[in-house]
Amino acid sequence: MTFERIDLEVPAGEDLRAAALVGLARTPRALPCRFFYDEVGSRLFEAICATEAYYPTRCEREILTARAAELAERFAGHALIELGSGSAEKTALLIAAWVGPVHYLPIDIDGSALERSAERLLDGGTHLRITGIAGEYATGLARAVEVVAGPKLVLFLGGNVGNFSREGAADFLAGVAEHLNDDDGLLLGVDLRKERSLLERAYADPAGVTAAFNRNLLVRLAAEADVRVEPQSFDHVAEYGEADGVVRMYLCANRRTSIRIGEQSFRFEAGERIHTEDSTKYGRGELGALAAGAGLRLVEHWTDPAGLYSLNLLQR
Ligand code: TRP
Repeated sequence: MTFERIDLEVPAGEDLRAAALVGLARTPRALPCRFFYDEVGSRLFEAICATEAYYPTRCEREILTARAAELAERFAGHALIELGSGSAEKTALLIAAWVGPVHYLPIDIDGSALERSAERLLDGGTHLRITGIAGEYATGLARAVEVVAGPKLVLFLGGNVGNFSREGAADFLAGVAEHLNDDDGLLLGVDLRKERSLLERAYADPAGVTAAFNRNLLVRLAAEADVRVEPQSFDHVAEYGEADGVVRMYLCANRRTSIRIGEQSFRFEAGERIHTEDSTKYGRGELGALAAGAGLRLVEHWTDPAGLYSLNLLQR
């Protein structure tokens, strides 16, 4: 039972300020999603995952529970590398099923999430070695594969691949594929297209946890980037575009307000929005193409009984 932590470059206050200056000057206005996850953001996201409205976590847990033994057998002796590990609460199911000693390498942009998840995992695990990597996906993965000598299963769960556009996802997964050998695997959680009401509820839960999560971007701007902004002047909005299967998230001014960064002032009338994140949904028939676009094969495609969400095994 060991835990070591590797710290790569993670975005700081100056990066946040620079990104906000660029994003708010553009049309349409946008803030980059990589700033969602500081310690408060990670905790709020865990709270989203615990809501009844946010079905992806529940569905993915169901599928993992059903397939853990099979995966453990198939990938016995493989290291587990996870992109965007967060609380690693679902990964714990896999780790518990793994045969023999496990080397787990979680990668997360929020170092505090690595610490908290490692503490919980080491509490339960016996033959567990954890190498936490604080950093972004691509650089984190490159470092992880340097650390791991043998075969590996890469986990990209939670439907986070949906936060890329369709083309962006293929490019990103192609980059992941370059690190895979023939015996390795990529376990990919992908959220599926479904009726609007379920999606819009999942991305705007009635208790307002998601709203607090989205607004945390503005809270961070004020606290870390010396930006003058009133977070409570913005509401959370989630809209599903049925035609392209994308849930789009915005912060929408609920009154006339402004965001000031140094000399620059960005004015908002009530109803004017900042785009913060997309969550792309896939049709079941699109998954083969997603894998192929990355130069990989879709080896398994599992869904929860209701068919809301999918877990997919991709290989070379
Ligand atoms: N990866 C999550 C998803 O697409 C991120 C997410 C969930 C999110 N709810 C959100 C991002 C609300 C911004 C706002 O499902």
